[in-house]
Amino acid sequence: MLHVAAEMFPFVKTGGLADVVAALPAALQEAGVDARVLLPGYPAVLAALVKSRKVFEGSGLYGAARVTLRHGTLRGSEVPAYVIDAPYLYARDGGPYQDETGREWRDNLQRFALLGWFGAHLAAGDIDGRWQPQILHAHDWHAGLASLILRLHPARTTRSVFTIHNLAYQGRFPLGDFPLLGLPSHCLDGLDGMEFHGDVSFMKAGLIGADAITTVSPTYAREIPTAEFGCGLEGVLRSRTRDLHGILNGVDPGVWNPANDKHLAANYDVAQLDGKSRCKALLQQQMGLTVRSDAPLFAVVSRLSQQKGLDLLLEALPTLIASGGQLVLLGSGDAALESAFREVARAHPAAIAVQLGYDEPLAHRIVAGADAIVLPSRFEPCGLTQLYGLRYGTVPIVRRVGGLADTVDAAVGFVFLEPESTLTAVLQQAIDAFREPALWQARMRAGMRRDHGWSSAASHYVTLYQTLLQAAASPS
Ligand code: ADP
Ligand code: GLC
Repeated sequence: MLHVAAEMFPFVKTGGLADVVAALPAALQEAGVDARVLLPGYPAVLAALVKSRKVFEGSGLYGAARVTLRHGTLRGSEVPAYVIDAPYLYARDGGPYQDETGREWRDNLQRFALLGWFGAHLAAGDIDGRWQPQILHAHDWHAGLASLILRLHPARTTRSVFTIHNLAYQGRFPLGDFPLLGLPSHCLDGLDGMEFHGDVSFMKAGLIGADAITTVSPTYAREIPTAEFGCGLEGVLRSRTRDLHGILNGVDPGVWNPANDKHLAANYDVAQLDGKSRCKALLQQQMGLTVRSDAPLFAVVSRLSQQKGLDLLLEALPTLIASGGQLVLLGSGDAALESAFREVARAHPAAIAVQLGYDEPLAHRIVAGADAIVLPSRFEPCGLTQLYGLRYGTVPIVRRVGGLADTVDAAVGFVFLEPESTLTAVLQQAIDAFREPALWQARMRAGMRRDHGWSSAASHYVTLYQTLLQAAASPS
């Protein structure tokens, strides 16, 4: 089983994709599957690679002067990794997709075409004489070409799965760049081609190339074949509904566990919640908020993008403040949202604290110290922070979409959907509920007892892989 992706926690992460790419292969290994990953050789990934052997060496692929594929392990991870060392494409400061100023790298087409090329050829058995997977599992648009190139391979026996983590990011490039991919021209045309509204789309390549498509929650799997959630790809998805499966993500207990989280000043669990009160007091103090155990403390840990619906939270803040609530927000992204949150924090420093940027330890301290975590997302393929909230006794307040609808209900959190209810209304409900400590604690404990580990997801994936392999062995 080869997982192909652009991110893996803790080496490179911009969002939940990284958490999944670290945890799912590990969970598959625990289920007895030989799961490995293929990653671009960003500096942080290469720096973590140990005990590696050279598997392939070449030049000229997608403009890369020198390309080496290495196989080894990444320090701190049990999952064997293939890493593409192509300095011309990956050896640079900045993020995996953007430079330090937030501009997309101009050669992203080549950077992720190379990832797809290695994914497909490793899967086809062309690259590593010592290992060939039975299944190629490609994640999000960055790995989309792997599915398509493998489908075109004349001698393929390997089956492929493509997982949509977020349909809104599609990897679109000018049609004029298609020749750079070195693919036959029939790969462009019609419903079966990677052309999409006058561009080439790596996401579409993944969708049309794979034998099966999964996404990260059952509700999102039902949403995306519709115009409201399909981001223009609903037609392609409708043509493949038989092959489309929703498998809910889990929580990596090695990373997110309040009983032994090393980022916390005090640990706790469902039987002994005292440590959580200490985490709350310390968080309030650290963030400059009034230290009061009776003030309901709401949290956001999020990318600040249109998807996350945080403009709705801005609208609800006057109600929250007037009712004695507090907010701590950690996030970065959209400049207008960043400055709007900075402004309210400046106006209400005792009630609102905003930290812009990316900070893993602080994310843990916020999830542990807050009373509630807010996700008013417009769409949410799965969402991981509400799951972290559940595990940490931090009550989720969510919009009823995607994975949020599948993981949060009235027994463990608060759910709204316009027009029946609004974020402002459920925040007020949550504040009222917080004033009844026994009931609030019952809700916290109910959430903490929910099992959101990875083993259930891993067994769903194993069943899917087996189904694909059986179908290949006995074609109808
Ligand atoms: P998405 O992948 O859409 O961003 P998820 O809820 O699946 O949403 O995953 C987000 C992940 O990124 C979580 O692990 C969350 O803790 C983390 N995260 C988001 N913003 C920050 C931040 N500013 N600092 C640290 N971690 C963050
Ligand atoms: C995406 C989605 C998020 C999901 C994550 C991991 O980034 O936005 O909802 O949890 O991928 O699958």
